[in-house]
Amino acid sequence: MTENEAPTKPAGPPQDLKDMNVLVSLCKQRGFVFPSSEVYGGINACWDYGPLGIELKRNVKERWWRAMCDRDDIEGLDAAILMHPRVWEASGHVAGFVDPLVDCKECKSRFRADKIDPEKLKANVCPNCGKKGALTEPRNFNLMFKTHMGALEDSSAIVYLRPETAQGIYVNFLNVQQSSRQKIPFGIAQIGKAFRNEITPGNFIFRTREFEQMEMQYFVKPGTDMEWFEKWKAMRIQWHYDNGLRKEKLRFHQHAGGELAHYAKAAFDIEYEFPIGWSELEGVHNRTDFDLGRHQEFSGKNLQYFDEAAKEKYVPYIVETSVGCDRALLAVLCDSYRFDGDRTWFQMHPALSPYKVAVFPLMKKGGMSEYAEKLHTDLKKHFRCTTDDAGSIGKRYRRQDEIGTPFCVTVDFDTIEKHTVTLRHRDTMETIGGRVPVEKLVDVIRDQIENWGR
Ligand code: GAP
Repeated sequence: MTENEAPTKPAGPPQDLKDMNVLVSLCKQRGFVFPSSEVYGGINACWDYGPLGIELKRNVKERWWRAMCDRDDIEGLDAAILMHPRVWEASGHVAGFVDPLVDCKECKSRFRADKIDPEKLKANVCPNCGKKGALTEPRNFNLMFKTHMGALEDSSAIVYLRPETAQGIYVNFLNVQQSSRQKIPFGIAQIGKAFRNEITPGNFIFRTREFEQMEMQYFVKPGTDMEWFEKWKAMRIQWHYDNGLRKEKLRFHQHAGGELAHYAKAAFDIEYEFPIGWSELEGVHNRTDFDLGRHQEFSGKNLQYFDEAAKEKYVPYIVETSVGCDRALLAVLCDSYRFDGDRTWFQMHPALSPYKVAVFPLMKKGGMSEYAEKLHTDLKKHFRCTTDDAGSIGKRYRRQDEIGTPFCVTVDFDTIEKHTVTLRHRDTMETIGGRVPVEKLVDVIRDQIENWGR
């Protein structure tokens, strides 16, 4: 094999991601995710998205937004992060958004009491240092971040960073319904930041203190709620399948009586099998008329819907779908990571890949660089596209594999003469369709993206 020939056969069977640390380090090296404020030693459980991470995140959000807002019965919203403090009294967060906190007086570790082995908790043994009698009594700790609005730091000006985006939708229910003239059933979708002072954050971007949620609240007539709840369960798991996640890595988990949130009549998690085990990816909840009822009570405003056809008024029930954008992105990275003993690649859906195509001149001479540059400029009009002229073609393929670029185009001697290129597929490592005429390249790549399957 010459310097510029690249292997077309895997070194061994593809292995999945087993250790989250491997992903953390790859994400940093390749510019997906960096530890926040790293030059100051970092800040616990905060992460920054780099050049490729932000592209991937935008693609995840775009797919969610299109799945929601391309429907005629869903409207979009972008509500403020800071809301009237009474919102959080009405929602139940001031009184109830708490975790039971336990400290070890010996090693100073902090735990959520509900996550400690009950035997250890009963025997008062620290799960970290093993010291007996060192644990404090559980204390309730509110997860909302507090801040002050205005110049005076007095208690009347306390506001909270929203711990969920949902409440912004509830308090705007009538604004959206009346301005868009939607009739029930209809939904409101929102993507935005949420903040929780988690006691035990961690596992990379799985549980952080600042994160983004993609939430949709669907307003329905009471009595039709369970039917819509089942429909949304099915549609939401399908969205994850459509993102390319493997079916066997996804499942539903039903919240039993004790697990149900104060607002929920029925709740299912969509769980994904992360390297840390099966964990919540998304929640689908039947929230009944709890939220609108409470905001009606606390604000004194009528939040009933008037059904003109039936001439009846009622407080709608709400079916909620709520997924963390960062967690959905983490699932995509975990699910698509592959290592064959030699090569590492992200076998992710091309629609999610930060770059769809990379263009390489085989050599810098013979007009190949100029040809590749022009091709790159042309392809950029259709897809997010990059170029690379450093090192052997094999090395350049590897660099693109490691950032999930599905297609690589090589400009060689024949290209200059016959205007044909090779198109290499990330997942098979083989070239697609022999040599592809340059004028057909856009159509061939588009077809490959649309018909991608594992
Ligand atoms: N409005 C309902 C709600 O917020 P949740 O189950 O508390 O429900 C919904 O959160 C989703 O938000 C979770 O399934 C998860 O994907 C994401 N999420 C929650 N806390 C998170 C955190 N600390 N870090 C990252 N994502 C989080």
